[in-house]
Amino acid sequence: TRPPLRKSREIQGNVLAAFNKDHQQFRFLRFTDAKLGRTWLAAVIGYLSVTADVEDFNEAFSLGRAMFGADPQSLKATWANLSLTPAGLVKLAVNPDAVAEDLRRRDPALWMGAEARADVTGDDPEEWLFGRDEQRIHAVVTVASDCTERLQAVDTMLDLLDDLLGVVKVHQELGETLPGPLKGREHFGFKDGISQPGVRDFHEEDPHRPGHRLGHAGAVLVKPGEFVFGHDSERGDESDRTARWLHNGSLQVIRRLTQDVAGWREALEEHADALGTTPDETGALLIGRHRDGRPLAEPADPALGLGPDRNDFDYADDPWGERTPCAAHIRKTNPRSFTYRAPTQRRILRRGIPFGPPYDDNPHAERGLLFVAHCTSIREQFEFQQRVWANNPEFAGGADGAPTGTDPVIGGADGARFGGTELAFPRFVRTTGALYALVPSVSTLRLLAAG
Ligand code: HEM
Repeated sequence: TRPPLRKSREIQGNVLAAFNKDHQQFRFLRFTDAKLGRTWLAAVIGYLSVTADVEDFNEAFSLGRAMFGADPQSLKATWANLSLTPAGLVKLAVNPDAVAEDLRRRDPALWMGAEARADVTGDDPEEWLFGRDEQRIHAVVTVASDCTERLQAVDTMLDLLDDLLGVVKVHQELGETLPGPLKGREHFGFKDGISQPGVRDFHEEDPHRPGHRLGHAGAVLVKPGEFVFGHDSERGDESDRTARWLHNGSLQVIRRLTQDVAGWREALEEHADALGTTPDETGALLIGRHRDGRPLAEPADPALGLGPDRNDFDYADDPWGERTPCAAHIRKTNPRSFTYRAPTQRRILRRGIPFGPPYDDNPHAERGLLFVAHCTSIREQFEFQQRVWANNPEFAGGADGAPTGTDPVIGGADGARFGGTELAFPRFVRTTGALYALVPSVSTLRLLAAG
């Protein structure tokens, strides 16, 4: 039997279950008319995939693999999710004042929007292709598919629907997993999407290791209310702040992060000498994992069945950052045991996908990560990781309490300390789009569509 949240037909499919498809399109939309917008919504609801849909497919896929001894190639899926910005929710709602008040109370950062929060995240909205307030983005449709043809077919259909109902496509992004041996990697060449929090009532608990997820390299289990409203959370009971219509919804952070691969490679070459190591090993120190995913904290041990996806470690036995530098990206963004709160807090569900071609195919093209994250408090989770940990040179994440510098991947390029060596970095990652939205439950979307 599945844990209860795996059967949910209320929570949209990319929140807990994860689309994880190789091709993903993000459509940033504006409604020009509330009534037409509601009609558009009523039509789109029928195409949205919920948690149970994704889980059914994944189960069929596993079954096929067990039966045929290989991935069932013919089994393909195309899924869609819809999120609405505060402006979009207010536009469609028949009671806009009440909706605005509920949003403001529940999540002030969401209500303010990414542009107003740019000083918190350290961004320059001038560089943004999407997410500036003047663009008045109301909705984001995420379409994910195993094949580009189907993605294109849905794109054409949605274009028609948008045109018909006065919905303006303000911007569009295409995410693609990298080809061949780079599949599953981000543009700097590192395996991504390994460490995700386990979610109680969604993932099964390991009977031999209470508090940990079964069969996924030991991820820590976190209460579902950290990612979906209306459920028990690590922050305690916040039901008085959460209006009923927000239940089973999740907050979504979308960021277009442009990566400078040439600059990254150059810096690794340069700093390898200072650290007395190779460029590859220098890269691993900056990330906290090797390119294939092996954590510096714990070597993968095939004898124990522990591969590169290993995740059951913390830094308690490495207080000085000797194995995993305190400034390494994965230690900055998840210090595990080194927080004043438990390692079950401040977590996010990451759903990112690269955009642009691999560097070696076309060095001059733009490339990066379409970073997508889910949480229930933008300030306490996503922004906290970015502002208080990654961008903050004072944040230690280790026992000595000495400043470590900024996260070399996403921090403010103030330089960081690796062992006894202070290294200077340029900015390798620039934010070129940012948006905060709500992924409402299906019932809430139906209510909005009904007007
Ligand atoms: C983990 C790359 C942006 C938060 C990772 C990993 C890589 C990576 C290679 C290790 C693999 C894994 O554990 O999944 C990047 C790149 C980025 C980027 C290249 C920008 C282009 C961000 C941002 C945040 C973030 C903006 C949040 C503010 C995390 C977290 C983890 C992670 C929470 C997991 C840490 C852990 O639990 O061990 N990232 N990342 N990343 N990243 Fe990023």
